[in-house]
Amino acid sequence: MAKISAGIATSHVPAIGAAIDLGKTGEPYWQPLFKGFEFSKQWMRDNTPDVIFLVYNDHATAFSLELIPTFAIGCAASFAPADEGWGPRPVPTVQGHAELASHIAQSVIQSDFDLTIVNKMEVDHGLTVPLSLLFGQPKAWPCRVIPFAVNVVQFPPPSGHRCYQLGKAIRRAVESFDEKLNVQIWGTGGMSHQLQGPRAGLINKEFDRRFMDRLISQPDALSQLPHIDYIRDAGSEGIELVMWLIMRGALNAEVKPVHRFYHVPASNTAVGHLILENLS
Ligand code: DHB
Ligand code: FE
Repeated sequence: MAKISAGIATSHVPAIGAAIDLGKTGEPYWQPLFKGFEFSKQWMRDNTPDVIFLVYNDHATAFSLELIPTFAIGCAASFAPADEGWGPRPVPTVQGHAELASHIAQSVIQSDFDLTIVNKMEVDHGLTVPLSLLFGQPKAWPCRVIPFAVNVVQFPPPSGHRCYQLGKAIRRAVESFDEKLNVQIWGTGGMSHQLQGPRAGLINKEFDRRFMDRLISQPDALSQLPHIDYIRDAGSEGIELVMWLIMRGALNAEVKPVHRFYHVPASNTAVGHLILENLS
């Protein structure tokens, strides 16, 4: 039986990927941010899973405005890093887990969640930056990764409640896979940020801290937060946080927070990070 052992939340920002790729992590601007991930990199070495189910959002890279799946599961054998304008990041190609991904697709779709199945896709900073933050710069990623893309770029995004319930369905799917696998689920993106319009640069530390508190101990209530509250309080790109609720829905009601980190700013974004162990 496959099991979900832990959930990880982390923000993504393209500039973080560039700082890693260009060897700037020790510079004064970046040093405090990367310090917050030192514990996590060691924890990942000690707790490397077989598979990461990585919930992230594509930024009009794999999916243009011509085709906008709300939820898309990567069932391919591998996923190459995308060219987002400066050439593909110099990071390893992601090795998928087609069997587990296909099993999750059939289980979740048959439990009434409509997923788009993706058999060929390149992955952008939404997926590669979290991997770099947690694994550094290895020659190959140390485990398989199933990319799970959520539309939070083009209105309407899915509700937090839908995401939270989907997490529960993903957990049932993983636990009905007939092979002993250690699976982690990651929820990425956020925290508060707005990249455009008159409110560009918006950060809301109070909202972010409360979101982390409630994600840990009151996820049911947090899942009821309407989408307009994310936009108003956490900025237009703060809506990326609904992806953290997919991760949280796939864990037990009680979790053990083993690491928590919050840092402002990284580029235009408030960076939040959690490691939640799933107590059995
Ligand atoms: C930034 C943040 C994002 O979430 C993103 O997708 C692109 C840029 C930023 O802060 O620069
Ligand atoms: Fe983003």
